[in-house]
Amino acid sequence: MTSGQRFARVVTDLVVRWPALWRILRRPMRAQFDKLAPQWEGIRMPDMLAPAEAGLERLTSPPRRVLDLGTGTGAVARLVAARFPEADIVGADVAEQMIAEARRVTDSPRITFQVADAQKLPFPNGAFDLVTLGNMIPFFDELARVVAPGGHVLIAYSAGAETPIYVPPERLRSELERRGFAEFAELSAGRGTSLLAAKS
Ligand SMILES: C[S@@+](CC[C@H](N)C(=O)[O-])C[C@H]1O[C@@H](n2cnc3c(N)ncnc32)[C@H](O)[C@@H]1O
Repeated sequence: MTSGQRFARVVTDLVVRWPALWRILRRPMRAQFDKLAPQWEGIRMPDMLAPAEAGLERLTSPPRRVLDLGTGTGAVARLVAARFPEADIVGADVAEQMIAEARRVTDSPRITFQVADAQKLPFPNGAFDLVTLGNMIPFFDELARVVAPGGHVLIAYSAGAETPIYVPPERLRSELERRGFAEFAELSAGRGTSLLAAKS
């Protein structure tokens, strides 16, 4: 891993354990991703979406309102749009430059992008049928708040445990279970892994 990737892993480990630390870690993390934004599309590998795709395939009914958290340049948001022609998707990211790039490379009237922090989301309770996270730190309280009852969360890591931003499935399950999620599906695809869960 590069030093930037190691930093992202340390931040992930700390914030999953102590979410309040995000207050001081947000600024350097955002700066790192703002800097990476212009080259992000170019460094993404072709199989990076495989685990997210595997999770979307498991959904038994098409979601209408979707949030892609930590959207970066919007790859997962576009994947959802291509798979579910009825869905309206919001891609949210804390890094302004990522959102600027996402808008530049995305051409779909059903996808909107906005700068927002996953720790404190500007959306009402139960606003989404599906929330996706691709290589992104989960903020479990907010996740549970914005997913509608009967809705799903899909957390995908492109290179499994080698992804710089990565949370092991046991941890994801226990945090989600405590917040009313069930029906877990642990999936592997390409070099990555994903977890799909439904909110009761
Ligand atoms: C590793 S990138 C993944 C981007 C995209 N999902 C992909 O797979 O290409 C992580 C993204 O999450 C964003 N991010 C990190 N913490 C965030 C937070 N608290 N709220 C919103 N976005 C966040 C970063 O700015 C960055 O764009």
